[in-house]
Amino acid sequence: MLDEIKKIRTEVESRLADIKNSDGVENFRLDYLVKKGSIQSLFDRLKDVPKDEKPLVGKELNLLRSFAEENYKSLKEKFENSKETISELDLTLPGRKEFTGSHHPVLQTMREMNEIFIKMGFSIAEGPDIEDEYHNFDALNFPPDHPARDMQDTFFIESENKLLLRTHTSPVQIRVMKEMKPPIRCIMPGRVYRNEAINARSLAEFHQIEGLYIDKHVTFAELKGTLIQFAKKMYGENSKFRFRPSFFPFTEPSAELDITCFLCGGEGCRVCKYSGWLEIAGCGMVHPNVLKECGIDPEVYSGYAFGFGIERVTMLRTGIDDIRLLYENDVRVLEQF
Ligand code: DAH
Repeated sequence: MLDEIKKIRTEVESRLADIKNSDGVENFRLDYLVKKGSIQSLFDRLKDVPKDEKPLVGKELNLLRSFAEENYKSLKEKFENSKETISELDLTLPGRKEFTGSHHPVLQTMREMNEIFIKMGFSIAEGPDIEDEYHNFDALNFPPDHPARDMQDTFFIESENKLLLRTHTSPVQIRVMKEMKPPIRCIMPGRVYRNEAINARSLAEFHQIEGLYIDKHVTFAELKGTLIQFAKKMYGENSKFRFRPSFFPFTEPSAELDITCFLCGGEGCRVCKYSGWLEIAGCGMVHPNVLKECGIDPEVYSGYAFGFGIERVTMLRTGIDDIRLLYENDVRVLEQF
């Protein structure tokens, strides 16, 4: 029996010396350390050993088992952490990219526009998305038969007090002027709704930033200066702008601000309807009727107002030429910004 123990010991030693990887370690365990392995089968035969030899044989067997177990353990550890195992990985594989979230491009634009106006001394005011006809139309000097009031443009809510989804952010002007005393210098960002057919240029739900400045002796020159200053900060010093006479019931005189088309650089294309210009804001001097309606004396105070479409500004900055892409929220589009 002692000879057999010796023989297995020599076998174990040479097997250990040959082990080169974790598969070799596992095969060693299966051959020697499991219940049916060769060391345990020697233990099984211990009962047949004559009594006086038992202590010595038992001791030798225990030594053999602990020798095999200790070496097994240390080799197992070695190969688990060793280069041998790591080299089985392909270290040239690129890492997995984490998807990081970001703000929606429309929100990014809105925040950047807010930031520029805040630096120019404007503060931020907000109003409700569900408005009434008075704030959305009447107080803004829309005549009772104005086509914008039509069901085709406005989402009315069935209610006693003529509620509707605001069609522009201008009603917030009314709320601000009724609440505050001049001087007033505010911007009013928010979502607006129109019953429009959805296509590449228009959505039924979009965003605007309204602006309002009321004080003594405010002039149209200040309006122009402020908007050009803002637009240069937003689009770069070299961008070209023009003011074009227009009409809004709540401003007199009224104008629209155009910027050179981002796609064709002014040559004329599909996006700018071959004019070379894109409209980015409506503006004008607040109509005396509107001031009066809000309890501000038009003989003492004057002011200007403006309204930007935020989606339009976002399209100009990102080069997105279909407004629907801003609404569908396809991650493949959004993750680019
Ligand atoms: N509310 C107008 C619209 O939705 C935009 C606008 C034009 C706002 C002129 C103004 C303004 O404050 O002065 O088309």
